Amino acid sequence: MILFKKITELSAFIEKEKKKGKSIGFAPTMGALHEGHISLINNSKASNSLTVSSIFVNPTQFNNAKDFDKYPISIEKDIDLLEKNGCDILFMPTVKEMYPNGFIDPPHYNLGYLETVLEGKYRPGHFQGVSQVVHRLLSIVQPHNLFIGQKDYQQCMVIKKLIDITHLNVNVIIGRTFRESDGLAMSSRNIRLNNEERKKAVKISEVLFFIKKEIKPGYIEDLKERAVQYLTAEDFKVDYIAIATADTLEVLENWDGKRPIVALVAAFLNEVRLIDNMLLN
Ligand code: PAF
Repeated sequence: MILFKKITELSAFIEKEKKKGKSIGFAPTMGALHEGHISLINNSKASNSLTVSSIFVNPTQFNNAKDFDKYPISIEKDIDLLEKNGCDILFMPTVKEMYPNGFIDPPHYNLGYLETVLEGKYRPGHFQGVSQVVHRLLSIVQPHNLFIGQKDYQQCMVIKKLIDITHLNVNVIIGRTFRESDGLAMSSRNIRLNNEERKKAVKISEVLFFIKKEIKPGYIEDLKERAVQYLTAEDFKVDYIAIATADTLEVLENWDGKRPIVALVAAFLNEVRLIDNMLLN
């Protein structure tokens, strides 16, 4: 695996490889890698001649300074994992390299409705930061195929929208969520849970399985309310539990029994905010 820290060096290398006819797959990350990330590398390797990954904890997407400071970092383990799994190129820029002019006057992306609901509503500015860094990374790497995970369902939609509004020429391939044996969705933030919290965290996926089992056409607010009560009783501070259309994320109170839908949850367990989602039909 070749490690690049400088944008100019990475871009020059990729340009040369593209001229040789190589297809480029790209899996951006913020490190603290787990099986879900590695599956993105494997998906990329299966359909591209060159797989690029990046590790960059992007300050502009954290709406909470404490969350940024406490974001887990395990660089040596990550490099080892990427190497063992056959990643060809790792891009690991500094903040200065990515944002040479600092954080003043950031670009604004017209993400529309997507930025006003769920994660957009509870993490103001988060998706602007995600768009800024993904736009920058895509302009640097210029991949044919971008690999991202369904665990961040709304982020996947935002990135598709970003690619649409910036007219970037890249396919988006979404990888499935990986779960621990008890059902907890794999996430870099899980490392921050203590033993007691880790045992409790599984309740997040339990409510999603519960909704999937219980949902029926018609009024669905009471089902959501039961799910909120279930988590609240276990000391979670729930930001939201929502059932929305899978393609547009329109939050529903009634379901016609036909439209493809997804349940999404975000809740704090003490200091750690966990999110998860599940397609329901
Ligand atoms: O999902 C993530 O890890 C990040 O939001 C991403 C897409 C790498 C952008 O920083």
